[in-house]
Amino acid sequence: MLIDPCELSPSYVRSIAPYQPGKPISEVARELGLKEESIIKLASNENPLGIGPRTRAAIDAALAEVARYPDGSGFALKQALSGRYGVDQSSIVLGNGSNDVLELVAAAFLGPGRAAVMSQHAFAVYPLATQARGARSIVVPAKNFGHDLEAMARAVDDETYVVWAANPNNPTGTFARPDELEAFLRKVPERVLVVLDEAYNEYIGADLRADPVKWLKRHPNLVVTRTFSKAYGLAGLRVGYALAHPSVADVMNRVRQPFNVNSIALAAAAAALDDMEFVARSYAENLQGLRQLEEGARKLGLDFIPSYGNFLTIRVGKAPEVYKRLLRRGVIVRPVGGGYQLPEHLRVTVGTAAENERFLAALAAGLKE
Ligand SMILES: Cc1ncc(COP(=O)(O)O)c(C=O)c1O
Repeated sequence: MLIDPCELSPSYVRSIAPYQPGKPISEVARELGLKEESIIKLASNENPLGIGPRTRAAIDAALAEVARYPDGSGFALKQALSGRYGVDQSSIVLGNGSNDVLELVAAAFLGPGRAAVMSQHAFAVYPLATQARGARSIVVPAKNFGHDLEAMARAVDDETYVVWAANPNNPTGTFARPDELEAFLRKVPERVLVVLDEAYNEYIGADLRADPVKWLKRHPNLVVTRTFSKAYGLAGLRVGYALAHPSVADVMNRVRQPFNVNSIALAAAAAALDDMEFVARSYAENLQGLRQLEEGARKLGLDFIPSYGNFLTIRVGKAPEVYKRLLRRGVIVRPVGGGYQLPEHLRVTVGTAAENERFLAALAAGLKE
């Protein structure tokens, strides 16, 4: 009897519900018959400032060499990161976005018979990467929309090899203070890897930022992940990294594709890392934008989850309906029902002041409809 060839894949792979990305502008334009120029996308936590001139120059220079494979070791970028953090290159793993780095953790440390702990409302890739390896997800109820770190430490069982923690978390924007994280690291057994996903780290005020390198020295089971997709403005190029104990980095590198980060991304990221001014501007403008969105939500009488990221998650009531009304007005945001379990909220990325204004006006109109 003929079988459906998809059944050749393990059942845990077949039961994966695919990641739902923010809708691209071109798709909304096609579906709703709108002009692409009239649409704004505030759905994927991208940087509205684009990239800085130094990064652009590095991209132009790297273009000349695209006929060649990239440096598979990413030496120049690792050297720059090593200088920035004061860690040896053997402690750094580069990825095609930090998403890739999360997948490398799952590939290297998870599998059937193993489990990973994560919070309710946490970044969608954690359950996906866990399930794709045949491992079990242990989802811990959130506390005030954020990670309940004490409960997460208690949820670790004999089969747990990984704990995923996002700080700040997406899509809630919630944040755990350094002292809370330190207490958490002390509680999680050393035989369990703690992945501290700091994709939005640059958007936290300097006074609240922890020193993960200090923690790495004390906790060899810690993996810190960061990205160039957010404050550095390189989401389209895909480059992120992990800082980890050299032996953890070593196993992650064994499951890494030899050329997982492309040459343009490597060059751009090294240049972007140096452009402190651009990152400082991204931080400052984001803070202003957040305040603008918060103020706008308050005026509309809407609750929101206080955010430490470059996005705000607002309670709008019938979110799927409001989402569609916004789409019809050419504003793309992100619904966070489904796997995120926030059916009454919409997540909006901080855009330029004009984009934020446009979103708020569309929201006001959409709510009245
Ligand atoms: C919490 C969190 N971690 C990781 C990522 C992955 O980002 P990238 O693969 O672009 O580095 C995202 C992207 O939105 C995120 O929100």
